[in-house]
Amino acid sequence: MTDDTHTASLVDKLERERTLSRGEFKALLAGRTLPGSAARLFERARAARRAVYGNAVYLRGLIEFTNYCRKDCLYCGIRKSNARAERYRLTRKQILECCTQGHELGFRTFVLQGGEDPYFNDRRLADIVGAVRAAHPDCALTLSLGERSRASYKTLFDAGAERYLLRHESAAPGHYRSLHPPGYSLRNRMRCLSDLRDIGYQVGCGFMVGSPGQTDDCLIDDLFFIRELRPQMVGIGPFIPHKDTPFAGEQPGGASLTVFLLGILRLMDPALLLPATTALGTIHPQGREAGLRAGANVLMPNLSPVAVRKKYMLYDDKICTGDEAAECRACLERRVNGVGLDVVVSRGDCACFTRASPMSEAFPAAKLTEVRSVRPQIHAGR
Ligand code: 5AD
Ligand code: FES
Repeated sequence: MTDDTHTASLVDKLERERTLSRGEFKALLAGRTLPGSAARLFERARAARRAVYGNAVYLRGLIEFTNYCRKDCLYCGIRKSNARAERYRLTRKQILECCTQGHELGFRTFVLQGGEDPYFNDRRLADIVGAVRAAHPDCALTLSLGERSRASYKTLFDAGAERYLLRHESAAPGHYRSLHPPGYSLRNRMRCLSDLRDIGYQVGCGFMVGSPGQTDDCLIDDLFFIRELRPQMVGIGPFIPHKDTPFAGEQPGGASLTVFLLGILRLMDPALLLPATTALGTIHPQGREAGLRAGANVLMPNLSPVAVRKKYMLYDDKICTGDEAAECRACLERRVNGVGLDVVVSRGDCACFTRASPMSEAFPAAKLTEVRSVRPQIHAGR
């Protein structure tokens, strides 16, 4: 039985102990629509954020530099089987121009994101990473390029990349399989995250909310996985179907569950960098504001040239594809101020990374596989 008082006590316990048992997480998720329970969670989450970051919201300038992808994730609009995707690559010069423009607009972190595009081998990427670093030594450079070898991650780290975003997508093995074609393994995804962490990157993982076949148990697997990995950042956003993928007819994920999970993540780790994602802003016009009110502290606006924006369609109706970077920047500032927070010009490092605390302890690689056995495959593959 989940009632309001029980949910409230679970929020209190989560705030105090930073985690709950599986049964307690289940009850908390089941009680999320009870009057007052989300409000209580968000109020505590905001207090936790304020204690670490004050009113600061960090911006990351996202540069989507290639939509070629050798992979075929069932949910993703730039999957290789989507013959209708118009493919593009930005040149080194274009990427550097995006960074220059971003820097003028006050961005101090650039995220180079792309599909898994073999054209961008280590040599080409290291050259670009080095050039961005040289041009903007006061900025942090984040990569988001999918699964690569450990040697490749190391080369790019040595070239100057400090952070890496690789959503784990689902920590429930059966559910992970149902989102990806045969031959894609959660084990390799975990291996990548473990390598990135060992090499010294600040790491971001994450998942979609409401993807086909996802249950509350899958979400709890994600929460437990995050608790073990202790990443610096967690990116979550609602699943949104893309018309030219096998999931075209599936239901989208909900904004309210997404923001509830943001609140939970904030209480699990007050120092976490938590973006209010573009997908959240796409599913609901005030989704990003709701995310900020639930404890998020990062926004990742697009710095890609407007000419290519519509081609990086991971899902249908993605917002901000027609706006110049400067317009997006002004729009976001208004939204952030509207919820009583401030955009700051800063690299926006994770507080857990800059101060010595148990949260910065390297996650032992061996444990990543142990996490898998916490709840062996309950979800049947699709
Ligand atoms: N809906 C929402 N998010 C998506 N992503 C990919 N496809 C979709 C979709 N249809 C997310 C994945 C990926 C990130 C770059 O975008 O989680 O890791
Ligand atoms: Fe490219 Fe999914 S199809 S990452």
